[in-house]
Amino acid sequence: MSRIVVTGGTGYIGSHTVVELIQSGFDITIIDNLSNSEIEVLSGIERITGVRPDFENIDCTDYMNLDKMLEKYTDIEGIIHFAASKSVGESVQNPLLYYHNNISSLINLLELMPKHNIRHIVFSSSCTVYGQPDHMPVNENAPIKPALSPYGNTKQICEEIIRDTIHATPQINATILRYFNPIGAHPTALIGELPNGIPNNLLPFITQTAAGLRSELRVFGNDYDTPDGSCIRDYIYVVDLAKAHVAALQHMLAGKKNGQLDYYNLGTGRGLSVLEILDMFQKVNDVKVPYKIVERREGDIEQVWADSSKANKELNWKADTPLEDILRSCWQWELHLKERREQAQAQ
Ligand code: UD1
Repeated sequence: MSRIVVTGGTGYIGSHTVVELIQSGFDITIIDNLSNSEIEVLSGIERITGVRPDFENIDCTDYMNLDKMLEKYTDIEGIIHFAASKSVGESVQNPLLYYHNNISSLINLLELMPKHNIRHIVFSSSCTVYGQPDHMPVNENAPIKPALSPYGNTKQICEEIIRDTIHATPQINATILRYFNPIGAHPTALIGELPNGIPNNLLPFITQTAAGLRSELRVFGNDYDTPDGSCIRDYIYVVDLAKAHVAALQHMLAGKKNGQLDYYNLGTGRGLSVLEILDMFQKVNDVKVPYKIVERREGDIEQVWADSSKANKELNWKADTPLEDILRSCWQWELHLKERREQAQAQ
């Protein structure tokens, strides 16, 4: 068996990936400082898979403890690095927090990998690196545009750090995954996204409005140059995204070369507008989501969707879950959270 270390493994995408890794036969150690997740996520993972992964409460910016922890294991084959701060707005308010967290964590891991004989790393990046692309769908060769936020900049800088490190230290291989817009929750509704405070992202805001926690959704702009005037994104099911990590890892483990660096866009190839998503969500779940059109949100790009044919071909992976099922999973997870709140109140 081979062991994979998953940093940020109790987070949204991390937890779904841990489930898929366990179900593919990997031993897992999660490293997370629980700054934006809950320890109960481990129970959700255990209920789904029957396995409770090893857990280490460590901040990846803490070199000494990271080093000590990695020393304990002799069977680590790879790292999937999710642990990072990810709120665009917060990064504008507190850029140093973002530069410090996101960049030092990666540097620590890259420094420690050769020391502990760990050969493979998968890095969570974002389609944000492309800004507003000139051609659609966007493929991996599209130019990297100036970042619109410190958060976006950390993703670009981390990608550069990885590229330079692989060049200088070819015993390490890396795969950089550029996510489009991950949505949905595990079909069991035992794990999902736990937004901290008022959600910034579209789907959690929609589900919270449908659940009555928010009075109305604000649709940011209907005067874009798109068929219905609202922005277009490529919404990818989090479980499909999680499976892409397993595929990427297996691809690396099977590879013979050293110093390999690959980039993959992970999306569905289908662009949907805010109003289309909203309409479908209400239809498939038979719920109402009050909304109003407001001003454009600063920093939003008009439209972006992925050309994921490289991942389809090389990783033998495809995001193919029907949108209706994805939107149902969003609502089922919100209902699960509602139940949890009611149980907590009753106690
Ligand atoms: C955002 C970040 C992106 C990051 C990703 C992480 C920005 C500019 N981009 O992507 O860098 O990687 O989150 O998940 O913040 N919308 C509304 N009303 C809402 C919320 C969203 O109309 O209350 C619209 C937005 O204008 C956008 C779409 O829904 O058109 C998706 O928004 P969101 O879920 O925040 O994702 P991105 O902005 O694409």
